[in-house]
Amino acid sequence: MLNSSFDTASPSSMSNMSGRWDFGGEKEPLMHRIHAYPAKFPAFITQKAVAHARERGVEVKRIADVFCGCGTTALEAKRLNTDFWGCDINPVATLIARVKRNDYQKTRLEHYLADILRSYARRHRLHYSPYLKDDRLNYWFDEGTILELSRVKAAIDTVPEGKYHDFFLCAFSNILKPTSKWLTKSIKPQVDPDKKPVDVLPAFEGQVALMIKALNEVSEQPGKPTKKAASIIVTGNILEMDFAEPMVDLIVTSPPYVTSYEYADLHQLSSLWLGYTDDYRKLRTGTMGSLYHDSDFNRDIKNLNATGYGIVFQLYDVDRRKAKATARYFADLLKTVRQCVKLLNPGGMLLFVIGNTEYKGVKIDNADYLLSCLVDEGFCEIESTKRAISSKILTPYRDARGKFTTDTTSRKVYAEEFVVTGRC
Ligand SMILES: C[S@@+](CC[C@H](N)C(=O)[O-])C[C@H]1O[C@@H](n2cnc3c(N)ncnc32)[C@H](O)[C@@H]1O
Repeated sequence: MLNSSFDTASPSSMSNMSGRWDFGGEKEPLMHRIHAYPAKFPAFITQKAVAHARERGVEVKRIADVFCGCGTTALEAKRLNTDFWGCDINPVATLIARVKRNDYQKTRLEHYLADILRSYARRHRLHYSPYLKDDRLNYWFDEGTILELSRVKAAIDTVPEGKYHDFFLCAFSNILKPTSKWLTKSIKPQVDPDKKPVDVLPAFEGQVALMIKALNEVSEQPGKPTKKAASIIVTGNILEMDFAEPMVDLIVTSPPYVTSYEYADLHQLSSLWLGYTDDYRKLRTGTMGSLYHDSDFNRDIKNLNATGYGIVFQLYDVDRRKAKATARYFADLLKTVRQCVKLLNPGGMLLFVIGNTEYKGVKIDNADYLLSCLVDEGFCEIESTKRAISSKILTPYRDARGKFTTDTTSRKVYAEEFVVTGRC
């Protein structure tokens, strides 16, 4: 049943700008900023979600994030000493999330760092690296930088596999864009011809120092728990997972937007250097919201409810490729909701942070569609609340390369999004 104040409203008006989800009460721990990540949500959402669920009588023992990204929910669940289950299709995401959630001994980190620096120094005569043969890497890095990065990577690989190795790989991953020609902060992969990439070793050492500082900050928090909460973070496609039985009380997540971010493309430097793939395009497979899906439009459209169908139908008139990608995205969003039903214990709560977009005058109302899916799948106590996104700048339009533009026929990005909740 929908929240009573919304019972008679049309789905798109089932929201209010209460301000409840707009701001957090504390500064985000540095640990949330150890690695850049596109479309990360604010950490306070998890804290507020737990309070919101508890106020409504949910006993929150384990939290999940089915699109865990760089581990914002994972880390917040740790700070609340709560068990966590998370998944993401992209291995770069789960690497960062695991590192944020893990505990480390400072002395062991310092010991391994000293080993890495010694091993790096021993490789000063390195003149060849297999990475030099990779055309894609040659596109982003000059030869000297590839050799320098190869020295650091080989030195990191002397650390035994496991969480300490992951820690240094995560540090390495976050220096790849600054040491390359990648246009800083761009959400589309593009070369900046005027960029002067930063030097590899100082960037790596600075990044490790920042991560150790972040760890100290988290471990110095008052009220350190006596019992350690458990965490499982898996790399995989949420749509294809089997869940034998329900296992979580609260899901806090934010799905990808349709055709806004190509995560596989954005993580290409890390996935190539860390050996997750030999061709980053392979990692697009299964990624929700990607424009590169082979979609079966007729099948997808059949699975849509009236809300989804209405949006796709309007888009079809202005851009068929976009309409097909949106139909696929909506079908995947419905599957996600069904997977959440399997994951949630009876009475458990789901919370999605989801935004809308507009394309060539057609509003892609993802929040409205999600609401309709929750209704169709039998959720109760459904609520939708608008929240302001503080970081959005004046013009809300983006061009095909993802840059802000004043062209009002381009893709519109709203300065607000929705927090949608419901109970099983
Ligand atoms: C909006 S981001 C989540 C960001 C996250 N809340 C954070 O703070 O880092 C959406 C994530 O969904 C992941 N994703 C896309 N398709 C997926 C799928 N089929 N299964 C699991 N994860 C997927 C992307 O890799 C991306 O990390």
